Amino acid sequence: MSPSFSRRTLLKGAGLMAASAAVPASLKALAATTPELTAQFDKNNLMLPGAAPTRVMTYEQGHMPPILRARQGKPFSFRLVNRLPEPTTIHSHGIRLPNEMDGVPFLTQAALYEDDSFTYSFTPPDAGTFWYHPHCNSLEQIGYGLAGALIVDEAKDPGFDDDITLVMRDWRLRSDGNYLPFYKARSSARAGTFGTIRTSNWQQAPLYDVPSGGLVRLRLIAADVTRIYSIASPQMKAMIIAVDGNPVSSPSLLETMRIGPGQRLDLAIQIPQEEGTTAKIISHSGSGAFAVARLRANGASLKRHIRDTPQLPANPVQDIDPKTAEPVLMEFSASAEKAPANIICGSIGYTFWAINQAAWRGSTANPTEPMMTFKLGKSYRITLINRTPHTHPVHLHGMSFRLLNSNKRQIPNYVTDTALLLPDERMDIGLVADNPGDWLLHCHILEHQKSGMSSFVRVE
Ligand code: C2O
Ligand code: CU
Repeated sequence: MSPSFSRRTLLKGAGLMAASAAVPASLKALAATTPELTAQFDKNNLMLPGAAPTRVMTYEQGHMPPILRARQGKPFSFRLVNRLPEPTTIHSHGIRLPNEMDGVPFLTQAALYEDDSFTYSFTPPDAGTFWYHPHCNSLEQIGYGLAGALIVDEAKDPGFDDDITLVMRDWRLRSDGNYLPFYKARSSARAGTFGTIRTSNWQQAPLYDVPSGGLVRLRLIAADVTRIYSIASPQMKAMIIAVDGNPVSSPSLLETMRIGPGQRLDLAIQIPQEEGTTAKIISHSGSGAFAVARLRANGASLKRHIRDTPQLPANPVQDIDPKTAEPVLMEFSASAEKAPANIICGSIGYTFWAINQAAWRGSTANPTEPMMTFKLGKSYRITLINRTPHTHPVHLHGMSFRLLNSNKRQIPNYVTDTALLLPDERMDIGLVADNPGDWLLHCHILEHQKSGMSSFVRVE
């Protein structure tokens, strides 16, 4: 039997949220303090049907995965305490923040060893759906469950009837509850190694009660290390309102939307009018569709319609100046090198992939030189070329960019932090290099990242 809970229970359960208009005064006081995340093994095992109790890593005992809530334009901080017997850090994925808060070991901060702590502070310039995860030994640590949602609320409440966050991921488990190895080298050299049990918020197809006839905001976070989701809503009208945290300029009805590891999709959903009706959000996969979550209409109908979906205000991301934008190339390919990378933050022991012919040397005290240096404030038109037969979600830290065009398809002009690059695709993106520092750029299929498909750009 699946538990069912409302947003209110979820938020209370998270216990980590920062001030938000809908929150009672007592919780606001709590939010004034800096939330603390303790990376640790959870005392309670994860119970998944079909698997024996499973040991997980968590940031908060008994709460998986914790939701951090910040507000656009307001200073925000959280503290990470490491109680794991190995180094870790936290990367706030998609947030445009100061370089020293980016959480990349060696490049932007020292790795935190057991009992070390660090306070991450920044003022999020953008509202939307983001997430956070370790950036050290991440294939294993995320594989064990370390990750959480980071929601940045708009300065003004957009007025949905409910707001649900789904952190989607697969677990690589045997039926005895033990973990399968997190990767198979054969698969790492291809599309990646898939999990065996699919979950959202650490449950299979969880059920949420939502207002009948309401307009509900659903925030989907692809926190899996491998799976590219194909999201659809066959039973309810759904509108794409934001991608990777950034509102889309013209919301469109959802048919099927693919999001790769690290990406987010915000939907406005029109809930069935009739109380008790349950409808599914699904993802298509090679082995057929599976339910990501189930929504059940609850109470008298609010009689709202999908066409009442509010337009979210655009985030303040600069567009390139096409006249001065400098063209640059980034090529994603298999690697000619075979040497395994360094292991401080976890290596899978192979080198399969490269960016501009260079395979990442791993997280070392002496990282490679940046693959390119961008001039602060200057516009770039970056051509991403995929020389492989696999899809790669190419993620850039610290700056957002706009998708411009592709040789393979019509692409919407999304503002994003991740370009989902199809096999043999050649895609142009536009970037204003407006954030100084060393910014990682990597494939978010973590086995690809860990076996060479990672690099960094310097902005100065
Ligand atoms: Cu989710 Cu290096 O990022
Ligand atoms: Cu990849």
